[in-house]
Amino acid sequence: MTDQSPFDTDVITMTRFVLEEGRKAGGTGEFNQMLTALLCSIKAISLAVRKAGLAHLYGLAGNVNVTGDQVKKLDVLSNDMVTNMLKSSFTTCVLVSEEDENAVIVDLDKQGKYVVCFDPLDGSSNIDCLESIGTIFAIYRKVSTESASEKDALQPGINMAAAGYALYGSATLVALTTGQGVNFFMLDPGIGEFILVDRNVKIKKKGKIFSLNEGYAKFFDPAVTEYVQRKKFPEDGSAPYGARYVGSMVADVHRTIKYGGIFMYPANSKSPKGKLRLLYECNPMAFIVEQAGGIATTGTQRILEVQPETIHQRVPFFVGSPDDVQEFLDIYKKHHG
Ligand code: F6P
Repeated sequence: MTDQSPFDTDVITMTRFVLEEGRKAGGTGEFNQMLTALLCSIKAISLAVRKAGLAHLYGLAGNVNVTGDQVKKLDVLSNDMVTNMLKSSFTTCVLVSEEDENAVIVDLDKQGKYVVCFDPLDGSSNIDCLESIGTIFAIYRKVSTESASEKDALQPGINMAAAGYALYGSATLVALTTGQGVNFFMLDPGIGEFILVDRNVKIKKKGKIFSLNEGYAKFFDPAVTEYVQRKKFPEDGSAPYGARYVGSMVADVHRTIKYGGIFMYPANSKSPKGKLRLLYECNPMAFIVEQAGGIATTGTQRILEVQPETIHQRVPFFVGSPDDVQEFLDIYKKHHG
């Protein structure tokens, strides 16, 4: 970019970035092909989100999904977009979506090596009030030599080849990791490309914000109650933490990565396993947060080491700045041994 020109003539698009990284690692280009398909669906969802109010896309689709959420029209549209783009990319074999009870097995003649677990539109209870929402994805390589099946998606998070999320906020941003740090790419709507804006993002060691749905305080585990109390009434002379809770996990975790602090969706006496789903919500966000230098845990185990048993399983989720999550873990240990 020259000093006079408002145009950068050498932008790093996500395709360019991933191509360069892939070359260094001796890749075949299949990952880039898959990512291009995924990004295309993300661009289409971003547009649909922006036009939803005009295109009569608000409101319920009329059914409840497998994990009990009311399905919105935009959920259905987003799921169809991601599924169709990935199925036809010749790079995937198994797809697990929040919106589908069973894994989708790609037609044999179109199969490739990747397994993708995704939440096409996270935070969908926030659609109609124009809050930030997002798409989350976890990408694995098929490991078994048997024909592709749901089992290929039941891999622990440590096996992930890549993970990311798109955030449809005041701008559309994609965070991506392939295990070599985290990079943020912003959608330039003029050229329809994701441009690298933040390289090798790192989370603060300690933040000043805690984030959880405090409306469930009545049902909290005593460790969560004690932690929240400490943040609100610190006894060491420090300032109380700020409280923020959007209610879209993508937005809450993205803010946690940018500003530091902790996001929690604990188990409680009403939801003994928490609410968030391991395969396509917690695992990809945990991979990104760890790559940014943070911690992601169930309270008793590193999220990425949980061996999934079913594709829609839930786990308690505590994630964020290392010092903040560690402080919570110490309290958790005190209560639970
Ligand atoms: O799992 C979907 C989701 O919308 C998350 O994005 C969000 O963190 C959570 O549910 C909000 O749940 P609650 O309304 O119980 O706080």
